[in-house]
Amino acid sequence: MDERGIKDYDELLERAKDIEWFWGEIAKELDWFKPWDRVLEWNPPFAKWFVGGKINIVHNALDRYMKTPHRDKLAYIWEGDPGDTRKLTYGDLYEDVNRLTNALRGLGVRKGDRIMIYLPMIPELPISMLACAKIGAIHSVIFSGFSAAALKERINDAGAKIVITADGGYRRGKVVPTKRNTDEALGDAPSVEKVIVVRRTGEDIEMIRGRDLWWHELLKDQPAMADTEIMDSEDILYILYTSGTTGRPKGVVQVHGGYAVQIYNTLKWVFDLKEDDIWWCTADVGWVTGHSYIVYAPLILGVTSVMFEGTPDYPEPDRWWSIVERYKVTVLYATPTAIRMFMKFREKWPAKHDLSSLRLLGAVGEPINPEAWVWYYEFIGRGRCQIMDTWWQTETGSFLVSPLPITPLKPGSATKPLPGIEADVFDGNGNPIVGKGGYAVIKTPWPAMLRTLYKDPERYKEVYWTRFPGVYLAGDAARKDDDGYFWFQGRLDDVLSVSGHRLGTMEIESALVSHPAVAEAAVIGKPHEVKGEAVKAFVILRQGRSPSEELEKDLKEWVAKEISPIARPDEIEFVKSLPKTRSGKIMRRVLKAKELGQALGDVSTLED
Ligand code: WTA
Repeated sequence: MDERGIKDYDELLERAKDIEWFWGEIAKELDWFKPWDRVLEWNPPFAKWFVGGKINIVHNALDRYMKTPHRDKLAYIWEGDPGDTRKLTYGDLYEDVNRLTNALRGLGVRKGDRIMIYLPMIPELPISMLACAKIGAIHSVIFSGFSAAALKERINDAGAKIVITADGGYRRGKVVPTKRNTDEALGDAPSVEKVIVVRRTGEDIEMIRGRDLWWHELLKDQPAMADTEIMDSEDILYILYTSGTTGRPKGVVQVHGGYAVQIYNTLKWVFDLKEDDIWWCTADVGWVTGHSYIVYAPLILGVTSVMFEGTPDYPEPDRWWSIVERYKVTVLYATPTAIRMFMKFREKWPAKHDLSSLRLLGAVGEPINPEAWVWYYEFIGRGRCQIMDTWWQTETGSFLVSPLPITPLKPGSATKPLPGIEADVFDGNGNPIVGKGGYAVIKTPWPAMLRTLYKDPERYKEVYWTRFPGVYLAGDAARKDDDGYFWFQGRLDDVLSVSGHRLGTMEIESALVSHPAVAEAAVIGKPHEVKGEAVKAFVILRQGRSPSEELEKDLKEWVAKEISPIARPDEIEFVKSLPKTRSGKIMRRVLKAKELGQALGDVSTLED
């Protein structure tokens, strides 16, 4: 920005209040097939960015590097759960993406078609996403830890034509049966025509004639060159499902242009990434963190990323630290849950490794408690690395509140809104407040904001833009201090954050009541030392069924199978009744207050 005559960060923040000027300047740093006519068209709550511009995010992530020395640079250093490794240059990635692009086109995939990707953390996952984007097809990635039922629901919402999966994936040495889950999901998903299967584990699986195709056979004879579809800036890039307050997941819609601009800018500035950095974002690509900061932004920036299939403590609690040491990771981006888990294993595990390559750390997904912050700073950063606590959401696409390496830090605070972002904290009447908890809001549109919820613009309006008209409601509680620093405190709605994964209480409740023994269920989040929040379920049994340890175990497994092991309740309590409003809505707030021994608050609407 210095070439624009801006002397320091404060002046930049001030000038960036002119969001059209600011984002227009940033967008010029990407490659456009045709420049935009207008930076922003804002018809609240619907925004269009870089209107009239033509772009493809894959052109920026891969194609444009092919005539430069970057072609031979490593894009991914990948390590599997069992310890196998693969290294892919930008050129390798480009060629594989092109092969899949050609194969998909051969199967009739065209711009606007929906493709479901249900893959473990293997290189074929980013390859699949990039091939879809290259064609202009819309990808929807489902975390491979999700169940067949969750997959089916999302396939049907998206109306997907093709599913890309693997025979299986590895987790802690065991096989996750992704193909078997897919087969189960497809029992009731009529839109799907073909299933492409990557061979990962060599499992014995059933290939259905006329429907299932092996990835390696399909790609074998495909040319390594393919045209990139010229997309409108506002054409859809992906749908990513996330939990909300009702049982039905929300299909968050992102587009090619604005999303590319903002994720590129935020990764570049917040982590100050340079040519020779080795960037490691430890998330799974199945979540937004992986979409934005394992796949698209690092590739647009042209850096080398580490991608890891396994879990932090398998086979030993120093797995991560051995990876940092072996690949000389310079910037590590992780969750507070992982840090708290490592704290429990104690510092002897990282101490076994040379972590001197690290220069900067990051955190995301939940509030980081000061104890975890200090431990991360001391035992991982060894007192040399700042911690970038980035606050954002699936819906925001990109970091919104976060420090830069030059920002003075306060442990536990995500510090201030980034340039071009106008965040605030409101009281219940929509007035800005300082020093007190309130609603986190964003007052102006931003390029990587969700455009809508897939096929449900009404829900989009209602969930995010109705509480304070024209202002984005994040759903988080936050406090702004006298220095303008933000302290995020967790969700205000019925959304839990378990190990940094978003889960709707209603989703878990509907899974429970689908069990033959259950009449009614209510779910709350309970503070948990490592996971941040743990799931506690209150269950009313059907007549003739009685509580038992066995049934409790059975219900926990049921939820794990219906949704995902991450949703498995830690505790189940069998009860005779649940607190409800007169209109019959379960008052989870009351259950939670009772459980935690807090004051009940306003219970005037309580029936009993
Ligand atoms: C929470 C993940 C405190 C928050 C990128 C938000 C955070 C939800 C932070 C979104 C942070 C994310 N400090 N809380 N730095 N980052 N959150 O959609 O409650 O999976 O609303 O996106 O995670 O979760 P999501």
